Amino acid sequence: MRHLSCGFSFPRGRGGFSTRHAKLKVLQKDYKMKINLKICIIALVLAFSSSPLQADKGKALYEDKCTRCHSTELFTREDRSVKNLEVLKTRVKVCSIAAEAEWADDKIGNVVDYLNKNFYKF
Ligand code: HEC
Repeated sequence: MRHLSCGFSFPRGRGGFSTRHAKLKVLQKDYKMKINLKICIIALVLAFSSSPLQADKGKALYEDKCTRCHSTELFTREDRSVKNLEVLKTRVKVCSIAAEAEWADDKIGNVVDYLNKNFYKF
C-alpha cells in the first residue's frame, strides 16, 4: 500500500529494503568480529612479550632503591616472612615508602614481578 502524502512506501519481501538491510548487518557483524580477533591477538602478543620486560624494569628499580638496607638473600632465607603474593605486594609497598621511592602502582607491580620470578616463585 502506498503512503498517501508522498507516494512512497518501503518495498517489502524478497530483495526489498529490509532484506538488504539485514544482509548489511550481517556484514557489519562479520567485520566487527574480525576487528575483535585482531585486538585479541595484539593483546595476547603484548601480554606475553611485556612480562620479561617488566621484570627487567623491576630489577633496575630494585637495584636503584632497595639495596640500601638488605640484600636479596633476605628473599631466599628459610624463615623469610613473605608467604604469598598478596603479602609480597604489601611488603614491597611498605618498603618502597621506607626507601622513599614514591612509586606508583605500576612500578610496585614491576618490582613484585621481579622478586616473584627470581626469588619467591609463588
Ligand atoms: C629503610 C630500610 C629498607 C629499605 C630501603 C628497603 N627495605 Fe625491605 N625490608 C626492610 C626490613 C627491616 C625488612 C624486614 C627484615 C626482616 O624481616 O628481618 C624488609 C623486608 C623486606 C621484604 C620481605 C623479606 C622476607 O622476609 O620475605 C621484602 C620483599 C622487601 N623488604 C622488599 C623491599 C623492596 C622491594 C625495597 C625497595 C623498594 C626495600 N625492601 C627497601 C627494610 C628496608
